[in-house]
Amino acid sequence: MIHLNGEFMPIEQAKISVLDRGFIFGDGVYEVIPVYSRRPFRLEEHLARLQASLDAIRLANPNPLAKWTELVEKIISGNPWEDQTVYLQVTRGAAKRDHAFPKGLKPTVFLMASELVTPSADLVENGARAIVLPDFRWLRCDIKSTSLLGNCMLRTLAADQGCVEAILVRDGELTEASASNVFIVKNGTVLAPPKSQLILPGITYDVVLEILHANALPHEVRPVAESELRSADEIWVTSSSREVLAITTLDGKPVGTGKDAGKPGPVCKRVHALYQQYKAKVMGKTQAGFAQAVIEVVKRHAPDFDPATLGMRPSREGKYLSLTCNVRAVSREQLDELYRELCDHPMVTMVL
Ligand code: PDD
Repeated sequence: MIHLNGEFMPIEQAKISVLDRGFIFGDGVYEVIPVYSRRPFRLEEHLARLQASLDAIRLANPNPLAKWTELVEKIISGNPWEDQTVYLQVTRGAAKRDHAFPKGLKPTVFLMASELVTPSADLVENGARAIVLPDFRWLRCDIKSTSLLGNCMLRTLAADQGCVEAILVRDGELTEASASNVFIVKNGTVLAPPKSQLILPGITYDVVLEILHANALPHEVRPVAESELRSADEIWVTSSSREVLAITTLDGKPVGTGKDAGKPGPVCKRVHALYQQYKAKVMGKTQAGFAQAVIEVVKRHAPDFDPATLGMRPSREGKYLSLTCNVRAVSREQLDELYRELCDHPMVTMVL
């Protein structure tokens, strides 16, 4: 199910004018919001960036924040996946073809969702390949514009060489990649190019900087020279769908030196794990009803169990949630039965 201009419908029924300026000029902006366990991640930040993009192209926001939140929630519940990416787009609307922005058009508002596909276990374990290309895009890459032809051309050049990303340099400095931000590690310090009009201010980029800061991992936000990129100990890309992904081969050569050359480096692995942990903490376990289901089972066998005393701890990778319950045991059989029921529960992996 998708949303178009106030209505929800199957995607096949959605129609827009061929004069829509999004179609004719790419005159529109968009957001891609990851959704975990049916809850949007950093929605406020995505909507703030949407506002910044709209302001930059002088397009009035067609919806207040509360309305956007409602639309996003409806799209999430109207689609079958627990983890999704919500794509939303606003274009200036339909008008006779003329370059200057016409005033007073009715903007086209479109939302759709797809299943969130994060990097495979193999990619996380071994990292991905990228190439370096000159950043030939325009000078307003901070606007999340639907005019993505430059990004599409660059990504295609990367794909032609079996690479997942094109890492871009302009005037001798790293900017970003065709659809992600780039971090490098040099002598134990993480380096990230500062926000400017030459890069998209990534939401994942912000989360990663927060994680680095919170865990006292040495990092600097400063221009990164192409030579530093090419001699980096580690390179990673970040985005809503790629999360934190190591680039282990650059222009056909292994990234880094020594025993970790061509493999995800220690800082990337740490940040990847911290990112998973952070996600699990703020979003809850991927199975939203897990804690509730366990509480119900425990209460059946120990009616005076107080759910407020349930301990919760996500695993290092954030894949599992471990629950600790203290129950007052009255008999051996009671404990055996509780143990058996928990073991048989489809959401429970292990009972200790
Ligand atoms: N792209 N830089 C560019 C050019 C991007 O297109 C993206 C995201 C990012 C990372 O931003 P964020 O962390 O907010 O996802 C950086 C999205 C996913 C896309 O176009 O599909």
